[in-house]
Order: sequence, then C-alpha cells, then structure tokens
Amino acid sequence: MSVIVITGGSRGIGASTAEHCARQGMGVILTYKSNVAAANSVVQRIQASGGNAVALELDVGDVSQFGHFRENVRQTLQATWGVETLTGLVNNAGHGLFNPLASITEAQFDGLFNVHLKGPFFLTQTLLPLLGEGASIVNLTSATTRVATPGVAPYAAFKGGLEVLTRYMAKEFADRRLRANAVSPGAIRTELGGGLNDDLEALLASQTALGRVGEPQDVAQVIAMLLSEEGRWINAQSIEVAGGYFI
Ligand SMILES: NC(=O)c1ccc[n+]([C@@H]2O[C@H](COP(=O)([O-])OP(=O)(O)OC[C@H]3O[C@@H](n4cnc5c(N)ncnc54)[C@H](OP(=O)(O)O)[C@@H]3O)[C@@H](O)[C@H]2O)c1
Repeated sequence: MSVIVITGGSRGIGASTAEHCARQGMGVILTYKSNVAAANSVVQRIQASGGNAVALELDVGDVSQFGHFRENVRQTLQATWGVETLTGLVNNAGHGLFNPLASITEAQFDGLFNVHLKGPFFLTQTLLPLLGEGASIVNLTSATTRVATPGVAPYAAFKGGLEVLTRYMAKEFADRRLRANAVSPGAIRTELGGGLNDDLEALLASQTALGRVGEPQDVAQVIAMLLSEEGRWINAQSIEVAGGYFI
C-alpha cells in the first residue's frame, strides 16, 4: 500500500494533488494550517470516489510541532492503512506575500523563511524515519526562482534555497534509495497571495507560451507522476511546470 503526506492539502495545488493521488490508489495524509472545513471537504471528496484520506493539522512554520506530527502520522498509518512507512512526502504548504525589497519587514521575511525553507528542511528530517526505502520526496518551488519578479524577493530566494536543498536530499538520502525532486510551477489559478484578478491573469497568460495560466491539476499530475512508479528514474531534478513561462 502506497501512502503519502501532502502538506497544505486543504486547498489549491495540494488539494488537487491529494485527489489525483487518491484516484491513482494512494492513501493520502493531507495537512492544513487553519482551514479544517476545506481539509475535510477534500477528504470527503476522496472518500466519495472510493479513496482513503486523513486530514491532520500542522503549521509548517512551527518546527516545535513536528515531533508530535510524526507520532500522529505513525499512528494514522497503522490505524488507517495497517502500514509502518510512507512512500512519499510532498512539501507543498505555503503562502504568498507581495512587498518590494525596499519595504519588506523582518517579520515578513522570517514568516516566509520559516514556511518555505526551514519548514520543509526540518519536516523532511523529522519524517525521515517513516519514509520507506525507495520513497519519493517532492518539494514545491516556483518559476520566480528563474524569472525575477518584483515584490517576491524573499519568497523566490527561499524557493531557490529549497531547489538546492532538493539536490542535497537526493545526495544524502541516496543510501536509503530515496528520490527527491523539485516541481516549479508558473502562475497557477489558486488563492495564493490573494489569487489572480482578471488583469493579472491576462498579463500572466500573455507571458506564457501556451497562452493561459495553469490550473492546479496541471501541477498535480506531475507531482503524482514523481510519487509513482512512473517517476522511479527521475531524481535530483527541478521540473518547471509553467506552460512555457517567459521563454
Ligand atoms: N499558485 C501559484 O501560482 C504558485 C506558483 C509557484 C509555486 N507555488 C507554490 O505551490 C505551493 C501551493 O500553493 P497554492 O497556490 O496551492 O496555495 P493556496 O491555494 O494558497 O493553498 C495553500 C495551502 O497551504 C496551507 N498553508 C499555508 N500556510 C501554511 C503553514 N504555515 N503551515 C501549513 N500549511 C499552510 C494552506 O492551509 P489552510 O487551507 O489551512 O490555510 C493551504 O492548504 C506553495 O508552496 C506555493 O508557494 C504556487
């Protein structure tokens, strides 16, 4: 039985990934920060279509919660699926924030750092004992690491750090045959950073070779592939999923 953890699975790309993976037969532990209703409706949709999922609360920006979370995951694995280990971890949870370099505050910087780099680093370290041999780690980065986008400097810098960290995970966890890859979305229609208004969407679509912004499912199916047997020979890569953004 294949069971994965997806952080930030209550909405957006994480919710779509949870549903896509469940349709492929994976058990899904999805986390949410505060939106328990949204998390429960993802679980209900998965169960209604014959899958199995459990929602757990977790603030990825608070490392002190991670030990307790690991015990929750361990118990959930046994109680729900009768297994000891995970086959995948998706470090997806995050928030967006627009503020130029000249005015970003230390608190905003720290908030982005905790969620987008420190959190994935220590959550992966904490869950390592539960990741079975051959498990797949997927880290969500961003096309803003490649295309400098005014107003998102710390976010993009920490996503860039996460991309580097991905290669180190692949290197240092190779003895356990774990794979680690980064998925780097372009503009995707979610609620991140307040979502897209019509003008912004039109601008982003005009900067994208395929002429539209992405949908959560466009990213979810790539993450699901990396978590599955089909992705077994893809390791230490960063895959941009952006329809040809700024090429
Ligand atoms: N959308 C894009 O255009 C885009 C582009 C590039 C990269 N990305 C990356 O893709 C990932 C998913 O983004 P999205 O667009 O799907 O975002 P979203 O629709 O805003 O959903 C964010 C998810 O993360 C959870 N979350 C937020 N802060 C958290 C925290 N501190 N601890 C735990 N969970 C937290 C939210 O939980 P609650 O529901 O409880 O709030 C929610 O499930 C992020 O890492 C983002 O940076 C997105």
